[in-house]
Amino acid sequence: MTDTPNFTKDSASNLDQTLRPHSWDEYIGQKKTKENLRILLTAAKQRGHAAEHILLYGPPGLGKTTLAHLISKTLGTNMRVTSGPAIERVGDLAAILTNLSPGDVLFIDEIHRLSKSIEEVLYPAMESGVLDIIIGKGPSARTVQLELPPFTLVAATTRISLLSSPLRSRFSGGTFRLEFYSESEIAEILKRSASLLEASITDELLTDIARRCRATPRTANYLLKRCRDLAQLENGPINTDVVERTFALLEIDELGLGAPDRAVLEVIIHKFSGGPVGLNTIAAATGEEQATIEDVIEPYLIRQGLLERTPRGRVASAEAYGHIQNAVGL
Ligand code: ADE
Repeated sequence: MTDTPNFTKDSASNLDQTLRPHSWDEYIGQKKTKENLRILLTAAKQRGHAAEHILLYGPPGLGKTTLAHLISKTLGTNMRVTSGPAIERVGDLAAILTNLSPGDVLFIDEIHRLSKSIEEVLYPAMESGVLDIIIGKGPSARTVQLELPPFTLVAATTRISLLSSPLRSRFSGGTFRLEFYSESEIAEILKRSASLLEASITDELLTDIARRCRATPRTANYLLKRCRDLAQLENGPINTDVVERTFALLEIDELGLGAPDRAVLEVIIHKFSGGPVGLNTIAAATGEEQATIEDVIEPYLIRQGLLERTPRGRVASAEAYGHIQNAVGL
């Protein structure tokens, strides 16, 4: 008989869903954003109106999608989820918008990847709640205006600078930047995750993980799960040895930098005498996409004071030199 794995909720990609906070109380950190959203959403709900459109931005893994879910839950409406790259044609957007029920939330992830022509359909939809559809071609073409149900657009992006100003200005409910988390906030998030995963681990080890997750909840949860995997394979507890070996296997150093983060610093330091060096050159030398460097790698290096963006290019700091020297051999 073959040994069929018994897939449980925990074993699927469902795991991220399991760890996601389901209430504002469970959502740690981002205090200012939470407070502003609470006022905006509660007031709209009291008036019986759809909440105004909301833009969330910041590096990946900080909880933008989770916030969108909490927003729709607070409003007590359904949420339709899509993304910039998934909306290829005007018809795709029209189909989504016309299928919304009054008060629904439409979540568009990676909104910076919407095409210009689709953005232009979105403007009147956001501003006046109408959809302008062009029927036919050439001289006989005409515009038909469709009234849409009132809705709240919640959009997320890692690249606010790529949004056109007409689009940005239509988020009348507010634009909120998500911040990196403090170590104690991450430790609190991890404590809840460990409990949901039924993983036994000390507070001290949770703090070790919190120190090395690039201040990002998604990464913290990922590291905790990898520690749990190793402990499970060895039929043992998640102890210091397991945690340290997990970091070593994943090539994560004391500052939480991974191999791609160090590669960027190493290129700047060793190949370009510390900079300044252009983004495209760093991308070519490391083999990483420019967008990955800008969206994922640089924000944390900048936050840690390891890298600086100057008008002439990227520059490695004195701390970066010290760190790269010490990290040799990882
Ligand atoms: N997972 C992702 N973001 C979170 C947050 N802010 N609080 C708790 N868990 C999270």
